[in-house]
Amino acid sequence: MPSTPNSTTEFNNPTLEILITAGQLQKRIGEMGAEITRDYAGRRPELICVLKGAVLFMSDLMRAIDLNLSIDFIAVSSYGKGKNSTGEVRIVKDLDEPLEGRDIILVEDILDTGLTLSYLVNNFRSRGATSIRIVTLLNKPERRKVEVTPDYCGFNIPDKFVVGYGLDYAERYRNLPYIGVVKE
Ligand code: IMP
Ligand code: MG
Repeated sequence: MPSTPNSTTEFNNPTLEILITAGQLQKRIGEMGAEITRDYAGRRPELICVLKGAVLFMSDLMRAIDLNLSIDFIAVSSYGKGKNSTGEVRIVKDLDEPLEGRDIILVEDILDTGLTLSYLVNNFRSRGATSIRIVTLLNKPERRKVEVTPDYCGFNIPDKFVVGYGLDYAERYRNLPYIGVVKE
């Protein structure tokens, strides 16, 4: 048998502290899906996943929504992130479908400064979407630089750098089924 150095070490990582377990994530996502199903009854929303971090959340959330929905993907990168954040966001991979007349649900992994989502909401509005709501798995309210309020939020978390369940640190940890905090 070839050795698989990452399988057990990554899933029981000694450098990570678990913040939200896989079970807690799935339970909460089930509740969020039920809420969206009720709110959008009779409509056909378009779920837009912000790549790459929201990919696991998107795939579980869409299975928890009992509606005739469609999906699309967008990828963005931001300039000058960190100390000198300009708030300038660039679309790296754009949507495949037009937004005209659609009820959009923007699916994000984490709402931090709010710069990414405020840019996307304004951008989608200018493309003629009928309505735009934000669903985020995680929210760090303390970190906000521009006012963005999620319509649906999984968990409010403290100002700590988190990884797992789609979220990365230098592209690592995205495959973890839980949310963890990297130990100092
Ligand atoms: P915002 O524009 O500052 O709200 O940026 C949100 C984006 O920053 C998220 O989509 C993540 O990609 C990234 N991000 C913010 N906080 C964290 C974190 O704690 N862990 C991993 N990525 C994060
Ligand atoms: Mg992201």
